[in-house]
Amino acid sequence: MMARLGLSAFLIASFVTPVFAADAQTQRQAIEVGRNLAKSHCATCHAIGKRGQSPNPQAPRFATLAQRYPLDNLAEAFSEGILVGHGPMPEFQFEPGQIDGLIAYLRSVQGPMKRTKRRTSK
Ligand code: HEC
Repeated sequence: MMARLGLSAFLIASFVTPVFAADAQTQRQAIEVGRNLAKSHCATCHAIGKRGQSPNPQAPRFATLAQRYPLDNLAEAFSEGILVGHGPMPEFQFEPGQIDGLIAYLRSVQGPMKRTKRRTSK
């Protein structure tokens, strides 16, 4: 009986923990992908970090985007080739993995005033 309990505790510990670790790892990687994309594709106009002003004053700072849009909606805009009718902003076409990355990155730099709905579950 004890041995059995011990075994399931072991199984749970060895099974569940890596899953969480892998999630956090995936999340970090996604953010990294997004950060690199933002640096190479967006930083010429947008302030991409938590602070700073956009080089192009018309371009919203990434840290405030969630105040204008639910970030989830942006995923769709990105996948459809952002963004029709937005002035000087060039059109981009991204792979799903890159889009996830950008959204994860944008989420990671949102300022304290974010007003998007909190996601209850993943
Ligand atoms: C050449 C300059 C430029 C680059 C490069 C650029 N943007 Fe923009 N972006 C703008 C400008 C200017 C606006 C504001 C347009 C407006 O409000 O009409 C804008 C607006 C946006 C918006 C808000 C759209 C809206 O409807 O208000 C998002 C989201 C955005 N950019 C994301 C990005 C991302 C992500 C990248 C990189 C992949 C990027 N931008 C690269 C200039 C740029």
